[in-house]
Amino acid sequence: MKETFYITTPIYYPSGRFHIGTAYCTVLTDSIKRYKELKGYDCFMLTGLDEHGQKIQTVAEKNGITPKEHVDNMAKQAKELWNLMDIKYDKFIRTTDDYHIEAVEKIVQKFIDNGDIYKGVYEDWYCMPCENYFTDTQLIDGKCPDCGREVKKMKEESYFFNMKKYQDWLVKFYEENPNFIEPESRKNEIFNNFINPGLEDLCISRSSFDWGIKMPNDPKHVLYVWLDALTNYITALGYMSDDDSLFKKYWPADLHVVGKEIIRFHGIYWPIFLHALGLELPKKIYAHSWIVMKDGKMSKSVGNVIYPETLIERYGLDATKYYLLRLMSFDKDSMFTPEDFVERYNSDLANDLGNLLNRTIGMMNKYFDGIIPTNITINTDFDEQLEVFIKEKINSFERNMDTYHVSNALIDLWSIISRTNKYIDETSPWILVKEDTEKLKSVMFHLAETLRKIAILLKPFMYNTSISILNQLNIDEEGTWESLLSSNIINENTKVIEKGEPLFVRLDKDEEIEYIKNKMKNN
Ligand code: ME8
Ligand code: MG
Repeated sequence: MKETFYITTPIYYPSGRFHIGTAYCTVLTDSIKRYKELKGYDCFMLTGLDEHGQKIQTVAEKNGITPKEHVDNMAKQAKELWNLMDIKYDKFIRTTDDYHIEAVEKIVQKFIDNGDIYKGVYEDWYCMPCENYFTDTQLIDGKCPDCGREVKKMKEESYFFNMKKYQDWLVKFYEENPNFIEPESRKNEIFNNFINPGLEDLCISRSSFDWGIKMPNDPKHVLYVWLDALTNYITALGYMSDDDSLFKKYWPADLHVVGKEIIRFHGIYWPIFLHALGLELPKKIYAHSWIVMKDGKMSKSVGNVIYPETLIERYGLDATKYYLLRLMSFDKDSMFTPEDFVERYNSDLANDLGNLLNRTIGMMNKYFDGIIPTNITINTDFDEQLEVFIKEKINSFERNMDTYHVSNALIDLWSIISRTNKYIDETSPWILVKEDTEKLKSVMFHLAETLRKIAILLKPFMYNTSISILNQLNIDEEGTWESLLSSNIINENTKVIEKGEPLFVRLDKDEEIEYIKNKMKNN
């Protein structure tokens, strides 16, 4: 039986249109899933929408529709976007789905039965957009520490979850699982700000609005949206339902991919809720950073928002995905600029990758009527160096992907591409054709073989490009991880395409920078 790999994205608040920041998180998750599939895992990817809470109710009211109508529209939009972006999710959960609501009610009942929940009065600073209370000391310059916006003093009779009871257990858990959260800096943050000062009990109900799951036995209260939302990772698999076969098969999650600003919920409350339910904990939480703009956060009012559709329509899906994944560092915010986008497109895609394929196809046709030479008898002085380099870089790629350093894995992959371009210059096929056609055969074989490997490594990120490379080389294979380790996959008499099609056409720099800037302003 295959080993399982369960991976999740955060479920999005459908309060507005999805921009490249929100898309990043899903593209990242999708690429990790596809990599794990390549390695032979039985994968399950979950994504969806977090549809309850005051923020959603407020947005719907502004648009003059019911919250349900609003989230229905947004669910349609989200699915269209993930479809456009070729996201291979296995399940799309909506927290307004009946099965989720029923399971959450049972979960809360279980907390009540265990004595984890009590009734009290809550008064503190409330940030409406974040749907979150803060204490005096947590505020930064009197504003929300998460988003920097205005907070209001609010007071309500509420239900509380007894977090204090689990403090010692949580500390011990982290001692035993020091790499539960990555990067480590994010773990340190929650320790410094929340765990070391001592956990506060969590207010888990609201009575100032009603768009949420009702508190069992006290329907004046709706559940705090984060309790409702976090449990999506298990309700989506049928936990607490009649059919929990997926839950039995895939839980615990191997990886929750989340943004850095929601690490507290995933690093404190989620482990405690799971422990209180007697369930196993996920294996890892990766908190990625943000895509930022020159003038800070993406925001409509600043006029610096960029939507994935804008880039996909003009530059294609694969270029857009490549850019986002390559841009983002493992643990630091990374800046999107139109200049950088166009520059990378031209250098990495049109130049490095596109030219490598084009030159190879061109020479194969010119020197060998398009037939990839196979029975190699003589090597050039450069073949072994190339082979050793590629082997090392594939190992490094694997290490990076296994630790979710996706941008670094792409750097490894592109160093293979650059090294192979250099190999063409080193071996100078245009001279070999006159002097040593046996060696020329070896060069052309190595080029085809390396491009085959590049295509396989590209598969998790740029599926269409990967297929196009294999098609142009006329190499028919499934492209498994194992086939990377072999060098005799190419059949005798394989004939490449006669006239290569450019994978990426060089962009006019000034024109395209202008184009993207205009789109950002007029969004
Ligand atoms: O937080 N760069 O939903 P959300 C990178 N419903 N990532 C970004 C980003 C940017 N500029 N802007 C947003 C929620 N994101 C909750 C999750 S999970 C049980 C509930 C990421 O729609 C952000 O970091 O506000 C977060 O991980 C995700 O988009 C969804 O944000
Ligand atoms: Mg498993």
